[in-house]
Amino acid sequence: MHPENEPRTLRLNSYQKTALATIVATLLLVAIGGLVRAAGAGLGCPDWPRCFGSWIPPTSAEQIPPQWDASKFNVWQTWLEYSNRLVGVVIGILVIATFLRSFRYRKTIPAVFWGSLIAVILVAFQGWLGGQVVYSGLHAVVITAHMLAALALIALLVYTAFLGSAAHFALDLHESSRRKLLALGVVTLAATLVQVAIGTQVREAVDQFMKSDNPPPRAAWLASAGAIDSLHRTLALVVVGAALYLLYAAIKERAPTLLTRLAGGIALVCTLQISFGIGLAYANLPPPLQVLHLFFGTLLATLLFLFTLVVSRARSLTREAGG
Ligand code: HEM
Repeated sequence: MHPENEPRTLRLNSYQKTALATIVATLLLVAIGGLVRAAGAGLGCPDWPRCFGSWIPPTSAEQIPPQWDASKFNVWQTWLEYSNRLVGVVIGILVIATFLRSFRYRKTIPAVFWGSLIAVILVAFQGWLGGQVVYSGLHAVVITAHMLAALALIALLVYTAFLGSAAHFALDLHESSRRKLLALGVVTLAATLVQVAIGTQVREAVDQFMKSDNPPPRAAWLASAGAIDSLHRTLALVVVGAALYLLYAAIKERAPTLLTRLAGGIALVCTLQISFGIGLAYANLPPPLQVLHLFFGTLLATLLFLFTLVVSRARSLTREAGG
C-alpha cells in the first residue's frame, strides 16, 4: 500500500476543528428541524424572531399576551420551536468563527476564505427563511426551500472544509479506478439528490394533513401522494443498488482505506434510510421515523458529496507507475 493511502491520525488545525464542528452542528439542526415538524411544533412560536413577543418564551398560558389565543398554547411545542431557533443562532456563531479562522487561507487557498464568507451570508438567509416558514403558516413550498437551503449550506461547508484540509484527504488512485469511482459517485449522488427532491414532494402531500385541524386517520395520509410516492419507492431501489455497487467497486478496485470506509458508511446509511422509509410507509408515518428519515437522507447526500470530492481530487497513478 502506498504510504499516502494508509490510515492516518487526525490532527486538525483551528480552522479545520471549527469547520468540522459547524458541519456536525448543522446536520444536528436538520434533525432538530425534523423533530419540530414531526411534533407539529412549527407554529409553537407564532411570531419571529421573538416568541409570543418576548425573547424568553412563556412557560404557562397566563403569560400569553392578549393578541394570541392562550387556549392553543402548548409549552413543549413552544420551547421545541424556540430551541430550534437557539441552535440556529449557535450555528450562526460557528459559521462566523469558521469564517474568521479561514483568514489563514486567504492567500494560499482563497476559495476557503470566499466559501466561508458565502456560508455566513447563506446562514443569515436561512435564518430569514426560517422566519418565512412561520409567517407563511408552514407553507409546504417554503418548508422545501428551507430544507434545500440547509442542504446547500452543508454542501458549501463540506466543500470549503475539504479544500482547507487537503492533506487529510490526499490519496493516490490508479487512473482507471479513479474514473470508475468518480462516475459511480456522481451517478449515486445525482440519483440521491433527485430522490431527496421527490421525497420533499411526498412530504408536501403528507403535510396538508399534519397541519389540518380535523385530519383523516394517519393511515390515509400517504395515499394522497399517489404517483409521487410510487416514484419515490422505485427510485429508492436505484439509489440503494448504486450505493451497494459503489462499495463493491471500492473493494474490487482496492481503493485506499479512507474511500472504502466512506463507501461502507454510504452503503450502511442508505440501507438504514430505506428501512426507515419502509417503516414510514407501512406503519402509518410514526414521528420518530419522520425525523430519522429526514436526517439520514441529508447524511447520505453529505457523505456522497464528500466521496466524490475525495475521488475527484485523488492523484492519479498509471498502472505501470503504481505497480
Ligand atoms: C435512498 C433512499 C431514500 C431517500 C434519500 C429518501 C429521502 C427522503 C426525503 C429527503 C424526504 C423528505 C423528508 C422531509 O422533508 O421531512 C422523504 C420523505 C418520505 N419518504 Fe423517503 N427516501 C428514501 C427512501 C424511501 C423509501 C424506500 C420509502 C418507502 C418505502 C420512503 C418513504 C418516504 C415517505 C413516506 C416520506 C414522507 C415522510 C414524511 O412526511 O415525514 N422513502 N424521503
